[in-house]
Amino acid sequence: MQKQVEQWSSNLSFVLAAAGSAIGLGAIWKFPYMVGTNGGGMFLLLFIFFTLLIGLPLLMSEFVIGRGTQLDAVESYKQLAPNTYWHYVGRLGIITSIILLSFYSVVGGWITIYLYKALTGQLAGLSEKEYGALFGETISNPSTAIIGQLLFLAMTILVVSRGIQKGIERASKIMMPALFIIFIILIIRSVTLDGAWEGLVYFLKPNLSAITAESILYAMGQSFFALSVGVSVMVTYSSYLSKEENLPKSAGSIVLLNILVSFLAGIAIFPAVFSFGLNPGEGPVLLFNVLPTVFSQMPFGMIFFTVFLILFLFATLTSAFSLLEIVVASIAKNNLIKRKKVAWISGLAIFILGIPSALSFGVLNDLIFFGEKTFFDVADFLVSNTLLPLGSLLIAIFVSRILKREELFKEFSQGSKMKRSVFSIWYFLIRYFIPLAIIIVFLNVLGLFDLFL
Ligand code: PFF
Repeated sequence: MQKQVEQWSSNLSFVLAAAGSAIGLGAIWKFPYMVGTNGGGMFLLLFIFFTLLIGLPLLMSEFVIGRGTQLDAVESYKQLAPNTYWHYVGRLGIITSIILLSFYSVVGGWITIYLYKALTGQLAGLSEKEYGALFGETISNPSTAIIGQLLFLAMTILVVSRGIQKGIERASKIMMPALFIIFIILIIRSVTLDGAWEGLVYFLKPNLSAITAESILYAMGQSFFALSVGVSVMVTYSSYLSKEENLPKSAGSIVLLNILVSFLAGIAIFPAVFSFGLNPGEGPVLLFNVLPTVFSQMPFGMIFFTVFLILFLFATLTSAFSLLEIVVASIAKNNLIKRKKVAWISGLAIFILGIPSALSFGVLNDLIFFGEKTFFDVADFLVSNTLLPLGSLLIAIFVSRILKREELFKEFSQGSKMKRSVFSIWYFLIRYFIPLAIIIVFLNVLGLFDLFL
C-alpha cells in the first residue's frame, strides 16, 4: 500500500492547519446566527457541552486513525478493516465534503465580494440601514453571488492543487494570531456601545425555556461543523503527522481555540445587535448586517474592516482547503500531476453543485422545501444535522468496536505521556456515550424519544 510521503514540518504547523480547518465560517459566521435563531444563551452551553464531550473525543478518534495508518480518508479504513465496508465511512466523508464546500463557497464568495467592495472604497460612510440594504442587494444579485463563489473556489483550487505543504503552512502562522487581535479590537468597540449589556445577557444567560429537540440537534451539528469532525478531514490531515507528536495535546488545543473563537464572535456580535436594535434571529445574514456598522463606529473603521475581511477570508479559505484536500488526496494519492487535474475537476463540479445555493438569497428565494427551507438551507441541514452526525456515529463505532483497545492505546499515547486514565475516559466516551447520545438526539428530533419527559 502506498504511504503518504508528505509530512508537516513541525507539530505547530499541523496544529495550525488543523485549527485552520476547524476555525472558519462555523465559529465566526454560523455560530452567532445559530445562537440567534435558537433562543440565545442556552445554545452556547449546549454547544460547549457537545464540543467537549463529543467533538473532542471524535477529533482524537480521527487523529488516531489518520496518524496510525498515515493514509488518506479511504485507504486508512481499508487498511484497518480489510475486506469490509468500513471504507464507506471515508467515502461518505468525501460526499459530505463536496456538499459542504458547495454552500460553504457561497458564503466564502460573499466575503470575497465584500473585500473587493472594501478595497475599492464602496463600503465607506454608509448608515446602519444602508449597510443592511447593500448586503441584501449584493447577495441577491445572481451574477455577483456566482462570481464571488467562483473566485473563492478558484483560490481554494489553486492552493490545494499545489500540495499541502507549500500551500497552507506558511500563512497560518501570521493570519491566525492576527485574527484574534482584530476580534479583541472589535469586542472593545462592541461592548462599549450603548445598550451593549442587553446583548451580553442574551448571549451568556442560559434560558432553559429555549431548549427544543431541534435546538439540541443544531447545537450538536454546530459542534461537529465547527470542529470539522465526522468527515474524515482530520484523518487526512493527521496522516501527514509524524509519530513523535502529541495527539491529545493537539486535539485539546484545537478544541479550546475553536470554542474561544466562537465565544469571541458571540461577544463581538450580540452587544452590537441589541445596541442597533437588530433582530438576533436574522439568520445567515446576521454577521454581515451587524459588523460593518460596528466598524464604521470606530476610528479608522474602514481600515479595520478591510483587515478583518482579509483575515476572515483567510480563516474561511483554510477550512475550504481541508474540504477539497480530502477529495483530492483520496483520488490523486501522491501523484502530483493527477492532483492538479483532480483539484480542478472536482472544484468545478462543486461550483456547479453550489449554484442553486448561491441563488438561494435572490432568484431562488421562493424555492422552498419542507415548508421553510431554501436550497442553501437544505444543503446546510443535510450536512450539519444529518451527514456529520452520521459520519461521527460511524467513526465512533468503528474506532471503539472494530479496532483493538491495546492498539488504540498505543497510538493514542505515542508521542505523549498520557495517563491510562485519560485514555479510559476517551474510550468510554467513544464506545458508549457518543453513539448513544447521537442516536438519542436523532430519535428525539423524530419524536421517537422524548428527552423532556
Ligand atoms: N470547521 C469548518 C468551519 O467551521 O468553518 C467547516 C468544516 C471544514 C467542516 C471541514 C467540516 C470539514 F471537514
